[in-house]
Amino acid sequence: MNSVICASIVSYMVWTQANLTARTDSYAADENDEIHETVASCVSPRRARQMGRTISGFRSNRNGRSHALAVVALFCVLPGWYKLPEHSCRYLDRLLFVHRIFTSSPACTELEPIVLDWLAKAIGLPKIFIYDGKGPGCGVIQGSASEATIMTLLAARTKTLRKLEVKYPGQSQHMLLSKLVAYTSEYSHSSVERACLVAMVKLNKVLVDENIAMRGAALKAAMDKDRKDGMIPFYVCATLGTTDCASFDNIAEIGQVCDDEVWLHVDAAYAGGSFICPEYRHFMEGVEMVTSFNFNPSKSLMVNFDFSALWVKNSVDLINSFKVDPVFLRHDNQATTIDYRHWQLPLGRRFRSLKLWFVMRIFGLENMRKRIREDAQHAKTFEKLVRTDDRFEICFPVHLGLVCFRLVLAGECDNEKINKINQDLLNRIVDSKDIYIVGSRVRQRFHLRLVTGSVGCDEKAVKFAWKTIQRHACSVLRENK
Ligand SMILES: Cc1ncc(COP(=O)(O)O)c(C=O)c1O
Repeated sequence: MNSVICASIVSYMVWTQANLTARTDSYAADENDEIHETVASCVSPRRARQMGRTISGFRSNRNGRSHALAVVALFCVLPGWYKLPEHSCRYLDRLLFVHRIFTSSPACTELEPIVLDWLAKAIGLPKIFIYDGKGPGCGVIQGSASEATIMTLLAARTKTLRKLEVKYPGQSQHMLLSKLVAYTSEYSHSSVERACLVAMVKLNKVLVDENIAMRGAALKAAMDKDRKDGMIPFYVCATLGTTDCASFDNIAEIGQVCDDEVWLHVDAAYAGGSFICPEYRHFMEGVEMVTSFNFNPSKSLMVNFDFSALWVKNSVDLINSFKVDPVFLRHDNQATTIDYRHWQLPLGRRFRSLKLWFVMRIFGLENMRKRIREDAQHAKTFEKLVRTDDRFEICFPVHLGLVCFRLVLAGECDNEKINKINQDLLNRIVDSKDIYIVGSRVRQRFHLRLVTGSVGCDEKAVKFAWKTIQRHACSVLRENK
């Protein structure tokens, strides 16, 4: 079976490479023609005509308005990838999706730890996270960074509760649960807060330093205080590349504070992809101390959504938390193979490892690095443009593809007034539909965020974005004189 699948992959790849130069639009059109025909052959003529109209509406929309949406969306929350080689593996992925247990698609299980080992090595994760055919360290593909946080938080919760039940026999699980505290920085992603809501555990938001980084001392102070109050620290989520301003928590210090009783998870959803370039790896110094590490190749490494890579040092922690083994899912290879159904919430899963397989095989690491560096270069270009205009300021150091900036008003000290003008500027930019960016607020100061790295983002697009922003800045400032 594996050889049949491999043969399909290889022949498909040859086909894909032959088509690599084709434009995305033509794929979209072909695909819609295909949908059109399929629909027409399956339903009554009247219904087919109705649906046909809907589909052609979608097509014309896609070539007009929706295409514009793709263009204006260039600089928004974080980069996303929707182009080749998704088309390479889209059909294979669907074809082979029926995967619930190892036996239903051995290749789906077998390829996943292999490509995640490649990726772990590519970003410089320590050996302890590499599966290498035996574990216990290993990677698993989750749908999103939010899911990775929820999975690790729930696993940490279960692990801690089991220990506490032994330590405090007779105490109810409800009472023990009410003592658990998770920690994260004030500026971590909202998904951490949400994970705590799902797990029904208290979340303590740790104050950050002047670089918007969570540091060891502040975390320790928060934990010490909670311990004094009878609470039990059990989980820390540190962020590498915050959504607000791409700041980096200090993993080397935080790792020292987290003992064996505390699960340290790293959410590097956005910035993790940049670690394929050695020059960015200093941001993850201390990573050998973390329990789990996650990032989204779908944000910066040209892998199509959905794809979030999660590595754990000890996969047994995940399996022990989520293993439920009904008779109808048992199979002969249970003792010798990975059963990813115990590593995630859904049972069925798609052959998502193919997406990474194609990206790494088609582009290669050097081209992937080149893209990360180009994104950073485009951000630097934008930063330089902003710095030439003294009506603006750059709010945070620009390390990757995110530039945070805002209008400053000469002689104006009222922060709320400056915030309002920047919000007004953002509204006008978004309303213009020429470009799409979003804003954020750090330490009561509202700023605008421009993110490079989406499909089609080049120097010309960055210059266009800057001209658009300047144009609207002129009108905002004129009206607020
Ligand atoms: C730091 C960080 N964590 C988590 C997330 C959530 O990612 P996902 O959509 O994969 O859940 C984001 C997305 O913006 C992010 O920037």
